[in-house]
Parts: sequence; structure tokens; C-alpha cells
Amino acid sequence: MSLAAFALSLALQQAPTGPAPAGAQDPKELFARSKCVACHGEGGRGDTDKGRKLKAPDFTTAKWFDETTDKEIRDTIRNGVKNKKGKVLMPAYKTKLTPEQMEDLAAYVRTFLKR
Ligand code: HEC
Repeated sequence: MSLAAFALSLALQQAPTGPAPAGAQDPKELFARSKCVACHGEGGRGDTDKGRKLKAPDFTTAKWFDETTDKEIRDTIRNGVKNKKGKVLMPAYKTKLTPEQMEDLAAYVRTFLKR
């Protein structure tokens, strides 16, 4: 491959893919990009160092799935969670994500269940 072709192939690999059409963003990517994975883990188990320390729930269990309403999930993503002393356990996302993105994430966390 010539140097020019090599440079071009690199440029193409790094070229941004452009804005995704509304509602078509991959929720998995959103979950990673919004740093949810830092606490909740890629598999939703809450098994990261941070997740264990803050006691993030395990989204893969039937217990969590059945005991948690869609409204609770949406409210948590919007408003975050603080403990009684006011320490932030989970940040609020209402100023960081659009309502559509929060809706997509709320649906996404429901997909981790392993029955
Ligand atoms: C700094 C760590 C942290 C980050 C970042 C984080 N969470 Fe959480 N999340 C937690 C903790 C801790 C809890 C449990 C809070 C509690 O004790 O009720 C939680 C709870 C939840 C719940 C459960 C709500 C319920 O009622 O059971 C959902 C859903 C959730 N997080 C989704 C998300 C999503 C989506 C993101 C990214 C947009 C995210 N979290 C980012 C730490 C985090």
C-alpha cells in the first residue's frame, strides 16, 4: 500500500460517522458513553469497583427486575440517588441527557435480565 493510500485508510477509519438519526442511537453505546458502565458494569451487574462500593443493583436478577417499576427507573436516571447524608450515590442525568436518551436507557436496563 502506498503511503497516501495508507494515510487515506487511516483517515477513513477515524472519520466520524455523523450524527445518528434521532432515536437510532445504540443504547449500549449510550450506556457506556454516559459512564453508566463505571458503576453498573457492561453486563449491568453492578460488579465494578465503584458499583460494589456504592452498592449498585444487579440488573440481571429477577428480584431487581420484578421489584422495580419503570417509573422508579426513569426517576432514578433523571434525578440520581443520594444517601441520607446527601452523598451522591448516582448522579442525576436530567441536564446531561435528552428525555429520549433517558427513555432509551430506561428500556435498556430492562434487557439485562437473565431468567
Ligand atoms: C457513580 C456511580 C453510578 C453511575 C455513574 C450511574 N449509576 Fe445508576 N445507580 C448507582 C447506584 C449506587 C444505584 C443504587 C442507588 C440506591 O441505593 O438506591 C443506582 C441505581 C440505578 C438504577 C436502579 C433504580 C431502582 O429503582 O432500582 C438504575 C435503573 C440506574 N442506576 C441506571 C443508571 C444509568 C442508565 C446510568 C447512566 C446514565 C447510571 N445509572 C449511572 C450508581 C451509578
